[in-house]
Amino acid sequence: MIGLLEALTRPLLSLLDAEDAHRLAIRALKIPPFVKLTADDPLLAVRAFGLNFPSPIGMAAGFDKHAEVPDALLALGFGFVEVGTVTPQPQTGNPRPRLFRLPRDQGVINRLGFNSEGADAVLRRLAARVDAGGIVGVNVGANRDSVDRIADYVRLIETFAPVVSYFSVNISSPNTPGLRELQQAKIFDDLLARVMEARARMSREAGTTPVLIKIAPDLTLSELDDLVGGARKHRVDGMIIGNTTVSRPPGLRDQVTAKEAGGLSGRPLFALSTRMLAETYVRVEGAFPLIGVGGIDSGEAALAKIRAGACLIQLYSALVFHGLRLVAAIKSDISNTLRREGLSGIDALVGADAAAMTAEEWPT
Ligand SMILES: Cc1cc2nc3c(=O)[nH]c(=O)nc-3n(C[C@H](O)[C@H](O)[C@H](O)COP(=O)(O)O)c2cc1C
Repeated sequence: MIGLLEALTRPLLSLLDAEDAHRLAIRALKIPPFVKLTADDPLLAVRAFGLNFPSPIGMAAGFDKHAEVPDALLALGFGFVEVGTVTPQPQTGNPRPRLFRLPRDQGVINRLGFNSEGADAVLRRLAARVDAGGIVGVNVGANRDSVDRIADYVRLIETFAPVVSYFSVNISSPNTPGLRELQQAKIFDDLLARVMEARARMSREAGTTPVLIKIAPDLTLSELDDLVGGARKHRVDGMIIGNTTVSRPPGLRDQVTAKEAGGLSGRPLFALSTRMLAETYVRVEGAFPLIGVGGIDSGEAALAKIRAGACLIQLYSALVFHGLRLVAAIKSDISNTLRREGLSGIDALVGADAAAMTAEEWPT
C-alpha cells in the first residue's frame, strides 16, 4: 500500500510547491480505508507516561495539523501520532510561500506560523475517532493575537483532555512572534502552574492526560537548567526535544533557500537537537521520559537519539525526502540492533551515551 501510494505521488510531489505537495499527501491519506497489516515486533514496545506504545516511532507535530489523517498514519506504521499545532481560534498563519525544501541539505525551512483550523474543527475530528484506539496526542499553541497566551493553553487542555492520549505544550515555535518567551523561567512557571491545574481539573472527567513540554533546540544551557527545574517542580510527564532551529549551521549547501526566515528542520538539525536532548537527559535525572526529534532519517539516527536519552522519537522532514517507507526501515533497524545486542527492549539503550555526548565539543 505504501509502495503504491508513493509510486503515484512522489515524483509529482517533488515538482510541486512544498505546501501544495503536503496538501496532496494529506488528501491521498484520506482516500483508502487504511488497515494496519502487520503487527510490530514486540521488542519495539515502549511504556511511557502510563501509555503502551507499539513502537517508539511517532509522527511529529506539523504534518497533520488539523487531525485529518491520524488513523491512516497509525495504520501506515507509526507507533503514535501528534496532531497540531492547534490554536483555540482558527487562523491562517503567515503569507505563502512559507515552506521550503533544501534538497541538497535534506532540510526544510518553514514559517507557517500556526495555520490552524482551530479547536472546534479539530475537536470534532478527534471526538469522532476516540474509540478507534492508537496513541494520538495533540500539540497545542496560542493564537498569534491572543492577549492572554497562557489562557489559550488552559482552554485547549480543557477542550481536548477527553479525546487525546497526551498533550504537547508547544512553547517553541519560532514563527509566532514572542511565543518562545514562554520559555523564560518566570513565565514558564506560571504557564506550568495553570496548565497542570487545568489538567487536574479535567482528570475526573478525562483521567490524567500526560502533559509534555516541547522546547526549542536554541536555548542556552542556563535556560535549559531553568526549564528542566520548572518541569520537575511541576511534575510534567515528559519533554520533547525539540522544535525547529532558527540557527543556520555553517556549510549548508542550499545557500539561497537557507536565507529564508523560519525554523530549519531535517538533517541539518540532527547534531544540535541530539546534543540538546543529551543535555536535557542528564539534567532530568530520570524524573520523566523524553521524546527525541530533529533530523532522524535512518535507523542509525534513531538509535543515536535513543542513546542520547529518548525513549520515544518523532520525525517529519525526512519523510519529504525518503517517503513513508522510512518508518518500516527504522523499525527494522532498531529490531535488528536489539536482537544483535541480545536486548529485550530499547530501555537498556536509553541515555547510554548521554554523559559522553555532553562532554564533546559543541556541535556546529
Ligand atoms: C512543515 C513543518 C511544520 C511544522 N509544524 C509544527 C507545528 O505545528 N508544531 C510543532 O510543535 N512543531 C512543528 N514542526 C516541527 C516538527 O514537529 C519537528 O519538531 C521538527 O521538524 C524536527 O523534526 P524533523 O527534523 O524530523 O522534521 C513542523 C515542522 C515542519 C517541517
